[in-house]
Amino acid sequence: MAMNEPKTYFIRTYGCQMNELDTEIMAGQLHKKGLIAASDEENADLLIFNTCSIRDLAERKVMGKLGRMGRGHKRNQVIGVTGCMAMAKKESLFRKFPHLDFVIGTNNITDLGTVLDEVLYTKRQIVKTDDRFEENLDYLVAKRDNKIKAFVSIIRGCDKFCTYCVVPYTRGQEVSRPPESIVEECKKLVDAGYKEITLLGQNVNSYGKDQPEWNCLFHDLLGKLDKIPGMERIRFMTSHPIDITKELMEAIRDLPSMCEFVHFPIQAGSSRILKKMHRIYTKEQYLEKVALLREIVPNVSLGTDIIVGFPTETEAEFQETYDVLKDIRYSLAFIYAYSPRKGTPAMRWKDDIPEEVKLDRLQRLMALQDEVSNEERARMLGNTYEVLVERFNKDGKMLKGRTRCWKKVIFDGDESLIGTLQQIKVHSFSHETLIGELAKPQGHLKVI
Ligand code: SAH
Ligand code: SF4
Ligand code: F3S
Repeated sequence: MAMNEPKTYFIRTYGCQMNELDTEIMAGQLHKKGLIAASDEENADLLIFNTCSIRDLAERKVMGKLGRMGRGHKRNQVIGVTGCMAMAKKESLFRKFPHLDFVIGTNNITDLGTVLDEVLYTKRQIVKTDDRFEENLDYLVAKRDNKIKAFVSIIRGCDKFCTYCVVPYTRGQEVSRPPESIVEECKKLVDAGYKEITLLGQNVNSYGKDQPEWNCLFHDLLGKLDKIPGMERIRFMTSHPIDITKELMEAIRDLPSMCEFVHFPIQAGSSRILKKMHRIYTKEQYLEKVALLREIVPNVSLGTDIIVGFPTETEAEFQETYDVLKDIRYSLAFIYAYSPRKGTPAMRWKDDIPEEVKLDRLQRLMALQDEVSNEERARMLGNTYEVLVERFNKDGKMLKGRTRCWKKVIFDGDESLIGTLQQIKVHSFSHETLIGELAKPQGHLKVI
Protein backbone atom coordinates (compact mmCIF):
# COMPACT_ATOMS: atom_id res chain seq x y z
CA MET A 1 0.00 0.00 0.00
CA ALA A 2 1.44 3.34 -1.06
CA MET A 3 1.94 6.07 1.51
CA ASN A 4 3.21 9.27 -0.08
CA GLU A 5 1.20 11.99 -1.73
CA PRO A 6 1.61 11.34 -5.49
CA LYS A 7 3.08 14.13 -7.62
CA THR A 8 2.88 12.57 -11.04
CA TYR A 9 0.30 10.38 -12.78
CA PHE A 10 -0.13 8.17 -15.80
CA ILE A 11 -3.44 6.89 -17.12
CA ARG A 12 -3.51 3.91 -19.47
CA THR A 13 -6.74 3.92 -21.49
CA TYR A 14 -8.46 0.88 -23.01
CA GLY A 15 -11.76 0.64 -24.88
CA CYS A 16 -13.88 3.23 -26.62
CA GLN A 17 -14.01 7.02 -27.02
CA MET A 18 -16.09 7.26 -23.86
CA ASN A 19 -13.13 5.96 -21.94
CA GLU A 20 -10.80 8.35 -23.76
CA LEU A 21 -12.95 11.25 -22.64
CA ASP A 22 -13.21 9.89 -19.09
CA THR A 23 -9.42 9.74 -19.02
CA GLU A 24 -9.28 13.41 -20.03
CA ILE A 25 -11.78 14.29 -17.31
CA MET A 26 -9.78 12.37 -14.70
CA ALA A 27 -6.56 14.04 -15.89
CA GLY A 28 -8.36 17.37 -15.41
CA GLN A 29 -9.19 16.43 -11.80
CA LEU A 30 -5.59 15.47 -11.13
CA HIS A 31 -4.19 18.69 -12.61
CA LYS A 32 -6.55 20.64 -10.40
CA LYS A 33 -4.97 18.85 -7.45
CA GLY A 34 -1.50 19.84 -8.65
CA LEU A 35 -0.35 16.53 -10.14
CA ILE A 36 1.51 16.50 -13.42
CA ALA A 37 1.58 13.92 -16.20
CA ALA A 38 4.41 11.38 -16.09
CA SER A 39 6.14 10.25 -19.26
CA ASP A 40 5.31 6.57 -18.72
CA GLU A 41 3.84 4.00 -16.35
CA GLU A 42 7.14 3.35 -14.59
CA ASN A 43 7.76 6.95 -13.61
CA ALA A 44 4.27 7.71 -12.33
CA ASP A 45 3.50 8.00 -8.59
CA LEU A 46 -0.14 7.37 -9.45
CA LEU A 47 -1.01 4.81 -12.11
CA ILE A 48 -4.56 4.36 -13.36
CA PHE A 49 -5.89 1.69 -15.69
CA ASN A 50 -9.07 2.97 -17.35
CA THR A 51 -10.45 -0.36 -18.47
CA CYS A 52 -12.88 -1.94 -20.95
CA SER A 53 -15.02 -5.08 -20.58
CA ILE A 54 -16.66 -5.26 -23.99
CA ARG A 55 -14.98 -8.49 -25.07
CA ASP A 56 -12.97 -11.09 -23.21
CA LEU A 57 -9.72 -9.99 -24.84
CA ALA A 58 -10.14 -6.43 -23.59
CA GLU A 59 -10.38 -7.67 -20.00
CA ARG A 60 -7.59 -10.19 -20.32
CA LYS A 61 -5.14 -7.52 -21.46
CA VAL A 62 -5.61 -5.56 -18.24
CA MET A 63 -5.82 -8.59 -15.96
CA GLY A 64 -2.50 -9.86 -17.32
CA LYS A 65 -0.92 -6.49 -16.81
CA LEU A 66 -2.21 -6.11 -13.24
CA GLY A 67 -0.99 -9.61 -12.40
CA ARG A 68 2.51 -8.92 -13.72
CA MET A 69 2.63 -5.61 -11.87
CA GLY A 70 1.71 -7.28 -8.60
CA ARG A 71 4.71 -9.54 -8.78
CA GLY A 72 7.16 -6.70 -9.41
CA HIS A 73 5.40 -4.16 -7.21
CA LYS A 74 7.90 -2.66 -4.83
CA ARG A 75 7.68 1.04 -5.56
CA ASN A 76 5.68 3.49 -3.59
CA GLN A 77 3.13 3.75 -6.38
CA VAL A 78 -0.61 4.27 -5.99
CA ILE A 79 -2.51 2.02 -8.43
CA GLY A 80 -6.16 2.29 -9.38
CA VAL A 81 -8.58 0.64 -11.77
CA THR A 82 -11.36 2.72 -13.34
CA GLY A 83 -13.74 2.21 -16.25
CA CYS A 84 -16.00 -0.65 -17.25
CA MET A 85 -14.03 -3.49 -15.67
CA ALA A 86 -14.15 -1.61 -12.38
CA MET A 87 -17.95 -1.73 -12.66
CA ALA A 88 -18.05 -5.34 -13.76
CA LYS A 89 -15.70 -6.65 -11.06
CA LYS A 90 -15.89 -4.08 -8.26
CA GLU A 91 -14.13 -5.07 -4.98
CA SER A 92 -13.41 -8.58 -6.25
CA LEU A 93 -10.44 -6.93 -7.99
CA PHE A 94 -8.83 -6.37 -4.57
CA ARG A 95 -8.89 -10.09 -3.84
CA LYS A 96 -7.19 -10.86 -7.10
CA PHE A 97 -4.78 -7.93 -7.01
CA PRO A 98 -3.94 -7.05 -3.38
CA HIS A 99 -1.56 -4.30 -4.57
CA LEU A 100 -4.49 -2.28 -5.98
CA ASP A 101 -5.34 0.89 -4.01
CA PHE A 102 -8.67 1.88 -5.48
CA VAL A 103 -11.46 0.91 -7.86
CA ILE A 104 -13.62 3.72 -9.31
CA GLY A 105 -16.57 3.02 -11.58
CA THR A 106 -17.62 4.88 -14.71
CA ASN A 107 -20.14 7.03 -12.85
CA ASN A 108 -17.65 8.25 -10.24
CA ILE A 109 -14.83 9.66 -12.35
CA THR A 110 -15.23 13.09 -10.77
CA ASP A 111 -14.75 11.53 -7.32
CA LEU A 112 -11.16 10.65 -8.20
CA GLY A 113 -9.69 13.45 -6.06
CA THR A 114 -11.60 12.51 -2.92
CA VAL A 115 -10.97 8.79 -3.39
CA LEU A 116 -7.26 9.51 -3.70
CA ASP A 117 -7.31 11.53 -0.47
CA GLU A 118 -9.17 8.73 1.25
CA VAL A 119 -6.64 6.14 0.10
CA LEU A 120 -3.75 8.25 1.40
CA TYR A 121 -5.46 9.11 4.68
CA THR A 122 -6.95 5.75 5.62
CA LYS A 123 -4.31 3.59 3.91
CA ARG A 124 -7.15 1.30 2.96
CA GLN A 125 -8.42 0.04 -0.37
CA ILE A 126 -11.32 2.18 -1.58
CA VAL A 127 -14.10 1.23 -4.00
CA LYS A 128 -16.72 3.58 -5.47
CA THR A 129 -19.10 2.28 -8.12
CA ASP A 130 -22.42 4.13 -8.24
CA ASP A 131 -25.10 2.91 -10.65
CA ARG A 132 -26.08 6.33 -11.85
CA PHE A 133 -24.13 9.35 -13.01
CA GLU A 134 -24.67 12.68 -11.26
CA GLU A 135 -23.91 15.78 -13.30
CA ASN A 136 -21.44 18.11 -11.61
CA LEU A 137 -19.16 20.96 -12.53
CA ASP A 138 -15.93 18.99 -12.31
CA TYR A 139 -17.13 17.47 -15.50
CA LEU A 140 -16.06 20.63 -17.30
CA VAL A 141 -12.37 20.47 -16.44
CA ALA A 142 -11.28 17.82 -18.93
CA LYS A 143 -7.61 18.11 -19.84
CA ARG A 144 -7.49 17.68 -23.60
CA ASP A 145 -4.21 17.12 -25.42
CA ASN A 146 -5.69 17.59 -28.87
CA LYS A 147 -6.28 21.29 -29.64
CA ILE A 148 -8.36 20.81 -32.78
CA LYS A 149 -10.87 18.05 -32.05
CA ALA A 150 -12.70 17.44 -28.78
CA PHE A 151 -15.02 14.83 -27.33
CA VAL A 152 -18.03 16.11 -25.39
CA SER A 153 -20.25 13.77 -23.40
CA ILE A 154 -23.98 14.39 -23.82
CA ILE A 155 -25.54 11.27 -22.34
CA ARG A 156 -24.12 8.54 -20.17
CA GLY A 157 -25.25 4.95 -19.75
CA CYS A 158 -27.40 2.70 -21.91
CA ASP A 159 -30.94 1.38 -21.44
CA LYS A 160 -31.06 -0.82 -24.52
CA PHE A 161 -29.90 -4.12 -23.01
CA CYS A 162 -28.78 -5.93 -26.14
CA THR A 163 -28.44 -9.50 -24.90
CA TYR A 164 -24.68 -9.79 -25.62
CA CYS A 165 -23.58 -6.47 -24.16
CA VAL A 166 -22.08 -5.48 -20.80
CA VAL A 167 -22.47 -1.73 -21.28
CA PRO A 168 -25.87 -1.29 -19.56
CA TYR A 169 -24.28 -2.91 -16.48
CA THR A 170 -20.92 -1.15 -16.66
CA ARG A 171 -22.24 2.32 -17.51
CA GLY A 172 -25.57 2.24 -15.74
CA GLN A 173 -28.83 3.75 -16.86
CA GLU A 174 -29.19 6.56 -19.37
CA VAL A 175 -28.69 10.02 -17.91
CA SER A 176 -28.77 12.98 -20.30
CA ARG A 177 -26.69 16.02 -19.55
CA PRO A 178 -28.54 19.35 -19.37
CA PRO A 179 -28.43 21.15 -22.74
CA GLU A 180 -27.16 24.39 -21.15
CA SER A 181 -24.16 22.56 -19.75
CA ILE A 182 -23.35 21.01 -23.14
CA VAL A 183 -23.78 24.32 -24.96
CA GLU A 184 -21.54 26.04 -22.41
CA GLU A 185 -18.77 23.49 -22.81
CA CYS A 186 -19.01 23.57 -26.62
CA LYS A 187 -18.92 27.38 -26.66
CA LYS A 188 -15.76 27.34 -24.57
CA LEU A 189 -14.19 24.81 -26.89
CA VAL A 190 -15.06 26.77 -30.04
CA ASP A 191 -13.74 29.96 -28.42
CA ALA A 192 -10.53 28.12 -27.61
CA GLY A 193 -10.15 27.32 -31.32
CA TYR A 194 -11.57 23.80 -31.54
CA LYS A 195 -12.83 22.98 -35.01
CA GLU A 196 -14.56 19.66 -34.52
CA ILE A 197 -16.68 18.36 -31.67
CA THR A 198 -17.72 14.74 -31.34
CA LEU A 199 -20.76 14.31 -29.14
CA LEU A 200 -20.40 11.14 -27.14
CA GLY A 201 -22.75 8.65 -25.59
CA GLN A 202 -23.45 4.92 -25.90
CA ASN A 203 -26.61 5.94 -27.62
CA VAL A 204 -26.54 9.66 -28.34
CA ASN A 205 -29.83 9.70 -30.18
CA SER A 206 -31.84 8.74 -27.15
CA TYR A 207 -30.65 12.05 -25.73
CA GLY A 208 -33.31 13.92 -23.76
CA LYS A 209 -35.82 11.06 -23.59
CA ASP A 210 -35.11 10.56 -19.88
CA GLN A 211 -35.87 14.27 -19.27
CA PRO A 212 -39.07 15.08 -21.19
CA GLU A 213 -39.49 18.37 -19.28
CA TRP A 214 -36.35 19.74 -20.98
CA ASN A 215 -38.14 19.52 -24.30
CA CYS A 216 -34.82 18.92 -25.98
CA LEU A 217 -34.30 15.75 -27.99
CA PHE A 218 -31.09 14.93 -29.87
CA HIS A 219 -31.98 16.88 -33.01
CA ASP A 220 -33.02 19.88 -30.87
CA LEU A 221 -29.65 19.78 -29.14
CA LEU A 222 -27.88 19.65 -32.52
CA GLY A 223 -29.81 22.76 -33.57
CA LYS A 224 -28.57 24.62 -30.49
CA LEU A 225 -24.96 23.54 -31.00
CA ASP A 226 -24.94 24.35 -34.70
CA LYS A 227 -25.88 27.94 -33.83
CA ILE A 228 -22.72 28.50 -31.77
CA PRO A 229 -20.73 31.07 -33.77
CA GLY A 230 -17.57 29.50 -35.16
CA MET A 231 -18.77 25.89 -34.79
CA GLU A 232 -17.25 24.17 -37.83
CA ARG A 233 -17.95 20.45 -37.48
CA ILE A 234 -20.15 18.28 -35.29
CA ARG A 235 -20.02 14.49 -35.21
CA PHE A 236 -21.68 11.97 -32.92
CA MET A 237 -20.86 8.51 -31.58
CA THR A 238 -22.64 6.11 -31.30
CA SER A 239 -26.23 5.67 -32.26
CA HIS A 240 -28.79 2.88 -32.10
CA PRO A 241 -30.72 2.43 -35.37
CA ILE A 242 -34.07 2.44 -33.58
CA ASP A 243 -33.52 6.02 -32.40
CA ILE A 244 -32.28 7.41 -35.72
CA THR A 245 -35.27 9.60 -36.49
CA LYS A 246 -36.35 11.52 -39.55
CA GLU A 247 -35.76 14.72 -37.57
CA LEU A 248 -32.16 13.65 -36.99
CA MET A 249 -31.71 12.91 -40.71
CA GLU A 250 -33.09 16.35 -41.54
CA ALA A 251 -30.76 17.95 -39.00
CA ILE A 252 -27.81 16.31 -40.75
CA ARG A 253 -29.08 17.67 -44.06
CA ASP A 254 -29.91 21.16 -42.82
CA LEU A 255 -27.31 22.10 -40.21
CA PRO A 256 -24.08 23.27 -41.88
CA SER A 257 -21.79 21.98 -39.13
CA MET A 258 -23.19 18.44 -39.11
CA CYS A 259 -20.79 15.98 -40.73
CA GLU A 260 -22.42 13.63 -43.21
CA PHE A 261 -21.35 10.48 -41.48
CA VAL A 262 -23.65 8.24 -39.44
CA HIS A 263 -22.60 5.22 -37.45
CA PHE A 264 -25.56 2.93 -38.07
CA PRO A 265 -24.65 -0.37 -36.37
CA ILE A 266 -26.64 -3.30 -37.74
CA GLN A 267 -24.90 -6.07 -35.72
CA ALA A 268 -26.43 -8.88 -37.82
CA GLY A 269 -28.29 -9.31 -41.09
CA SER A 270 -30.76 -11.95 -39.97
CA SER A 271 -33.99 -10.88 -38.29
CA ARG A 272 -34.00 -14.01 -36.15
CA ILE A 273 -30.54 -13.23 -34.80
CA LEU A 274 -31.44 -9.56 -34.36
CA LYS A 275 -34.41 -10.61 -32.26
CA LYS A 276 -32.23 -12.89 -30.17
CA MET A 277 -29.83 -9.98 -29.73
CA HIS A 278 -32.73 -7.79 -28.59
CA ARG A 279 -31.86 -5.14 -31.16
CA ILE A 280 -35.58 -4.26 -31.47
CA TYR A 281 -35.55 -3.86 -35.27
CA THR A 282 -35.80 -6.36 -38.10
CA LYS A 283 -33.52 -6.43 -41.11
CA GLU A 284 -36.32 -4.92 -43.21
CA GLN A 285 -36.93 -2.04 -40.79
CA TYR A 286 -33.21 -1.36 -40.72
CA LEU A 287 -32.91 -1.32 -44.50
CA GLU A 288 -35.90 1.00 -44.77
CA LYS A 289 -34.29 3.45 -42.39
CA VAL A 290 -31.03 3.41 -44.30
CA ALA A 291 -32.96 4.07 -47.51
CA LEU A 292 -34.75 7.01 -45.90
CA LEU A 293 -31.48 8.44 -44.61
CA ARG A 294 -29.92 8.14 -48.07
CA GLU A 295 -32.93 9.84 -49.61
CA ILE A 296 -32.75 12.75 -47.16
CA VAL A 297 -28.93 13.01 -47.08
CA PRO A 298 -27.78 11.62 -50.45
CA ASN A 299 -24.07 12.12 -49.79
CA VAL A 300 -24.10 10.46 -46.35
CA SER A 301 -21.44 7.90 -45.42
CA LEU A 302 -22.34 5.05 -43.14
CA GLY A 303 -20.46 3.08 -40.53
CA THR A 304 -21.47 -0.14 -38.82
CA ASP A 305 -20.64 -2.69 -36.14
CA ILE A 306 -21.17 -6.38 -36.74
CA ILE A 307 -20.97 -9.42 -34.51
CA VAL A 308 -20.38 -12.81 -36.14
CA GLY A 309 -20.90 -16.16 -34.47
CA PHE A 310 -23.69 -15.12 -32.13
CA PRO A 311 -25.15 -18.27 -30.45
CA THR A 312 -27.03 -20.45 -33.00
CA GLU A 313 -26.09 -18.30 -36.02
CA THR A 314 -26.29 -20.56 -39.07
CA GLU A 315 -24.23 -20.25 -42.23
CA ALA A 316 -27.35 -19.04 -44.07
CA GLU A 317 -27.95 -16.37 -41.43
CA PHE A 318 -24.35 -15.30 -41.64
CA GLN A 319 -24.79 -15.06 -45.40
CA GLU A 320 -27.60 -12.55 -44.79
CA THR A 321 -25.14 -10.37 -42.89
CA TYR A 322 -22.68 -10.74 -45.76
CA ASP A 323 -25.30 -9.70 -48.30
CA VAL A 324 -26.37 -6.66 -46.29
CA LEU A 325 -22.76 -5.53 -46.05
CA LYS A 326 -22.46 -5.96 -49.80
CA ASP A 327 -25.70 -4.09 -50.55
CA ILE A 328 -25.35 -1.21 -48.14
CA ARG A 329 -21.68 -0.50 -48.82
CA TYR A 330 -20.63 1.00 -45.52
CA SER A 331 -17.57 3.17 -45.62
CA LEU A 332 -16.47 1.84 -42.25
CA ALA A 333 -17.25 -1.47 -40.55
CA PHE A 334 -16.07 -2.81 -37.21
CA ILE A 335 -16.46 -6.56 -37.24
CA TYR A 336 -16.20 -8.69 -34.09
CA ALA A 337 -16.43 -12.33 -33.13
CA TYR A 338 -19.03 -12.91 -30.44
CA SER A 339 -17.52 -13.05 -26.97
CA PRO A 340 -19.74 -14.28 -24.12
CA ARG A 341 -19.89 -11.81 -21.23
CA LYS A 342 -20.70 -12.68 -17.65
CA GLY A 343 -23.93 -11.16 -16.41
CA THR A 344 -25.46 -10.67 -19.86
CA PRO A 345 -28.66 -12.49 -20.96
CA ALA A 346 -26.84 -14.17 -23.88
CA MET A 347 -24.81 -16.14 -21.32
CA ARG A 348 -27.80 -18.43 -20.93
CA TRP A 349 -27.22 -19.72 -24.45
CA LYS A 350 -24.36 -22.01 -25.26
CA ASP A 351 -21.51 -20.27 -27.12
CA ASP A 352 -22.00 -22.93 -29.78
CA ILE A 353 -20.25 -21.49 -32.83
CA PRO A 354 -16.71 -22.93 -32.88
CA GLU A 355 -13.90 -20.37 -32.76
CA GLU A 356 -12.62 -21.38 -36.20
CA VAL A 357 -16.08 -20.80 -37.71
CA LYS A 358 -16.28 -17.38 -36.06
CA LEU A 359 -12.84 -16.55 -37.37
CA ASP A 360 -13.72 -17.71 -40.87
CA ARG A 361 -16.88 -15.57 -40.91
CA LEU A 362 -14.92 -12.64 -39.54
CA GLN A 363 -12.32 -12.93 -42.27
CA ARG A 364 -14.88 -13.25 -45.04
CA LEU A 365 -16.62 -10.07 -43.91
CA MET A 366 -13.35 -8.22 -43.54
CA ALA A 367 -12.26 -9.20 -47.05
CA LEU A 368 -15.60 -8.00 -48.43
CA GLN A 369 -15.36 -4.73 -46.52
CA ASP A 370 -11.83 -4.14 -47.86
CA GLU A 371 -13.16 -4.54 -51.36
CA VAL A 372 -16.07 -2.16 -50.74
CA SER A 373 -13.84 0.46 -49.11
CA ASN A 374 -11.31 0.30 -51.92
CA GLU A 375 -14.03 0.81 -54.50
CA GLU A 376 -15.34 3.75 -52.51
CA ARG A 377 -11.88 5.31 -52.36
CA ALA A 378 -11.43 4.75 -56.09
CA ARG A 379 -14.68 6.63 -56.70
CA MET A 380 -13.35 9.60 -54.71
CA LEU A 381 -10.36 10.12 -57.04
CA GLY A 382 -10.40 13.43 -58.86
CA ASN A 383 -12.91 14.99 -56.46
CA THR A 384 -12.32 17.76 -53.95
CA TYR A 385 -13.15 17.39 -50.26
CA GLU A 386 -13.09 19.58 -47.19
CA VAL A 387 -10.32 18.36 -44.89
CA LEU A 388 -9.72 19.43 -41.31
CA VAL A 389 -5.93 19.49 -41.08
CA GLU A 390 -4.88 17.85 -37.83
CA ARG A 391 -1.12 17.27 -37.85
CA PHE A 392 1.83 15.96 -39.80
CA ASN A 393 1.48 12.37 -40.96
CA LYS A 394 3.64 9.74 -39.29
CA ASP A 395 6.33 10.20 -41.95
CA GLY A 396 6.62 13.81 -40.74
CA LYS A 397 6.48 15.21 -44.28
CA MET A 398 2.87 15.39 -45.37
CA LEU A 399 -0.07 16.89 -43.52
CA LYS A 400 -2.90 14.64 -42.33
CA GLY A 401 -6.56 15.33 -41.84
CA ARG A 402 -10.04 13.92 -42.29
CA THR A 403 -12.91 14.63 -44.65
CA ARG A 404 -16.38 15.29 -43.30
CA CYS A 405 -17.17 11.65 -44.09
CA TRP A 406 -14.25 10.52 -41.88
CA LYS A 407 -11.78 9.55 -44.61
CA LYS A 408 -8.11 10.03 -43.84
CA VAL A 409 -6.33 12.30 -46.34
CA ILE A 410 -2.67 13.29 -46.61
CA PHE A 411 -1.24 16.09 -48.75
CA ASP A 412 1.75 18.42 -49.00
CA GLY A 413 1.54 21.67 -47.12
CA ASP A 414 3.19 23.66 -44.37
CA GLU A 415 2.64 23.71 -40.64
CA SER A 416 0.56 26.88 -40.74
CA LEU A 417 -2.34 24.86 -42.20
CA ILE A 418 -2.69 22.72 -39.06
CA GLY A 419 -6.03 23.45 -37.42
CA THR A 420 -7.59 24.89 -40.60
CA LEU A 421 -10.14 23.54 -43.07
CA GLN A 422 -8.78 23.09 -46.59
CA GLN A 423 -10.17 21.93 -49.91
CA ILE A 424 -8.12 18.95 -51.01
CA LYS A 425 -8.28 17.34 -54.44
CA VAL A 426 -7.71 13.60 -54.13
CA HIS A 427 -5.48 12.01 -56.79
CA SER A 428 -4.59 8.55 -55.42
CA PHE A 429 -4.73 6.33 -52.38
CA SER A 430 -2.59 3.86 -50.53
CA HIS A 431 -4.32 1.33 -48.26
CA GLU A 432 -6.83 3.35 -46.26
CA THR A 433 -5.26 6.74 -46.86
CA LEU A 434 -6.31 9.10 -49.61
CA ILE A 435 -3.54 11.23 -51.12
CA GLY A 436 -4.29 14.64 -52.53
CA GLU A 437 -3.21 18.23 -53.03
CA LEU A 438 -4.46 21.66 -52.05
CA ALA A 439 -7.21 22.75 -54.44
CA LYS A 440 -7.99 26.31 -55.47
CA PRO A 441 -10.38 28.05 -53.05
CA GLN A 442 -13.95 26.95 -53.77
CA GLY A 443 -15.84 29.92 -52.40
CA HIS A 444 -18.36 29.07 -49.74
CA LEU A 445 -19.78 26.07 -51.55
CA LYS A 446 -20.25 23.16 -49.16
CA VAL A 447 -18.14 20.41 -50.71
CA ILE A 448 -17.87 17.14 -48.90
N1 SAH B 1 -23.45 1.63 -28.10
C1 SAH B 1 -22.80 1.08 -29.20
C2 SAH B 1 -21.95 -0.14 -28.90
C3 SAH B 1 -20.79 -0.01 -28.05
S1 SAH B 1 -19.90 -1.48 -27.98
C4 SAH B 1 -23.85 0.62 -30.16
O1 SAH B 1 -24.90 0.17 -29.77
O2 SAH B 1 -23.57 0.68 -31.33
C5 SAH B 1 -19.19 -1.53 -29.58
C6 SAH B 1 -19.48 -2.77 -30.34
O3 SAH B 1 -18.91 -3.88 -29.72
C7 SAH B 1 -20.94 -3.14 -30.46
O4 SAH B 1 -21.60 -2.40 -31.40
C8 SAH B 1 -20.86 -4.60 -30.82
O5 SAH B 1 -20.73 -4.77 -32.21
C9 SAH B 1 -19.57 -5.05 -30.16
N2 SAH B 1 -19.85 -5.90 -29.00
C10 SAH B 1 -20.53 -5.60 -27.88
N3 SAH B 1 -20.61 -6.67 -27.08
C11 SAH B 1 -19.96 -7.68 -27.70
C12 SAH B 1 -19.72 -9.05 -27.38
N4 SAH B 1 -20.17 -9.59 -26.25
N5 SAH B 1 -19.03 -9.80 -28.27
C13 SAH B 1 -18.58 -9.26 -29.43
N6 SAH B 1 -18.78 -7.98 -29.78
C14 SAH B 1 -19.48 -7.19 -28.94
FE1 SF4 C 1 -24.52 -2.31 -25.84
FE2 SF4 C 1 -26.75 -2.38 -27.22
FE3 SF4 C 1 -26.34 -0.43 -25.46
FE4 SF4 C 1 -24.93 -0.50 -27.72
S1 SF4 C 1 -27.14 -0.21 -27.54
S2 SF4 C 1 -24.14 -0.15 -25.68
S3 SF4 C 1 -24.67 -2.68 -28.05
S4 SF4 C 1 -26.61 -2.58 -24.99
FE1 F3S D 1 -15.42 -0.86 -23.36
FE2 F3S D 1 -16.89 0.31 -21.60
FE3 F3S D 1 -16.43 1.48 -23.88
S1 F3S D 1 -16.93 -1.82 -22.05
S2 F3S D 1 -16.19 -0.21 -25.27
S3 F3S D 1 -14.95 1.01 -22.37
S4 F3S D 1 -18.28 1.58 -22.71
